[in-house]
Amino acid sequence: MKVGLIGNGGREHAIARRLCQHGNVTLFTAASSSNPGIRELSADFHLAELSDLQCVKAYFEQQAVDLVVVGPEKLLIAGIVDLIRESGIPIVGPTQSQARLEGDKSFMRQLLRDRVGWGSPRWQRVTALPQAKQFIESMQAIVVKPLGLTGGKGVRVAGTQLEDQEDTLKYIQSLLESDGVVLLEEQVMGEEFSRMAFVSDGVIVSVPCMQDFKYAYDGDQGLMTGGMGSYSMADGGLPFLTTRDYEQADRLLKETVQAIEKETSTSYRGFLYGQFMATIDGVRLIEYNVRLGDPEALNLMSLLDTPPAELFNAIASGNLSMEKVAFKPQASVSKYLVPQSYPESISQPIEFRFDPDLVKQNDLSIIYGSVERIGPNHWAALGSRTLGIVGLGETPGKVSEKIEAFLESVDLPQLRHRKDVGSQDIIQQKITKMEGIRRAL
Ligand code: GLY
Repeated sequence: MKVGLIGNGGREHAIARRLCQHGNVTLFTAASSSNPGIRELSADFHLAELSDLQCVKAYFEQQAVDLVVVGPEKLLIAGIVDLIRESGIPIVGPTQSQARLEGDKSFMRQLLRDRVGWGSPRWQRVTALPQAKQFIESMQAIVVKPLGLTGGKGVRVAGTQLEDQEDTLKYIQSLLESDGVVLLEEQVMGEEFSRMAFVSDGVIVSVPCMQDFKYAYDGDQGLMTGGMGSYSMADGGLPFLTTRDYEQADRLLKETVQAIEKETSTSYRGFLYGQFMATIDGVRLIEYNVRLGDPEALNLMSLLDTPPAELFNAIASGNLSMEKVAFKPQASVSKYLVPQSYPESISQPIEFRFDPDLVKQNDLSIIYGSVERIGPNHWAALGSRTLGIVGLGETPGKVSEKIEAFLESVDLPQLRHRKDVGSQDIIQQKITKMEGIRRAL
């Protein structure tokens, strides 16, 4: 099968790698910059300005691909699915109007309020500062969200990125000046988790729950990043969640799909990724993404036990069924290696030496992110998440230890990572925290 892939990050390399593990796939990639892992796997690698959707469409038409899989949200929000479908090529992803679930946070909250009726923390769309002050005074703590995409950098939490009320109002004012509108939400307390699903014509198959480590340093210190790593358990659950939490997360995914299909009069065929908070009052939706999570896709693609081209084709053509999807009954951990200063940008690429064969020899997988190959085992980190290391095993704790033992054995002073992703200690801390929250009920 000729499969077209859009994107060049770690998430897309994880998808490409898994696709190409099955001999019948020939990969054609459209990307805005190179990725050594995807390039090596692709029969053709087309560097293009991805905002030129017509050019992306023409490329896949020219290569006569049988199926297209979209990695990044930007193209979904720009309408690549609508365009590619005009060519009659099956494509995995929601239409432009459905992608507003991620591209317009206020639309998403209104949809949940009007068509689902539950699932959001208290929220308000605000267009003037006095309105914002009133909302802040009625809440214990709030979160400030720009309506559109900000690459994870626009959402600010009062008490964390926003020191006090003055800071909060200043940030709201700056967003009102630039966008004319801002979303304020009640800050809900609990543990966050990721629940992704494959969706096609009303059939929703949830994948194992995962937890992403978003902060830059161990112990959730430092700035928010794109995600430093994630883990999942062998049974597909997370040990701090209750049966009610899973049921609520899955019910909300289902009711959201029904709502967006009604709203747009179109079947949803793609990925849906809910970032949820388990709270004392049940599950609350933090946000939706209409693509796979990154780093979660690294875990997911390692766990997927179904030929992905068949699965993606079933999603794109409305033939998905629960029986078609299987996952390895193992725990998973992914950890990203990043430049020392990440998420702060770097002024020039950082060279390092690394032998990727060593990863395989240690029963782990390597995923390439923002990195360039300069020569044999000679690389340049370009600034964002550089290399992903992924492993499977009995428990996240054991896999995390295996990754740590490997990373201790290599000399890589230019890059750092979070040691605590998936560690037994951190998971125990999360269990204890949620037990405390639930005891207070
Ligand atoms: N895991 C965070 C994201 O993909 O946005």
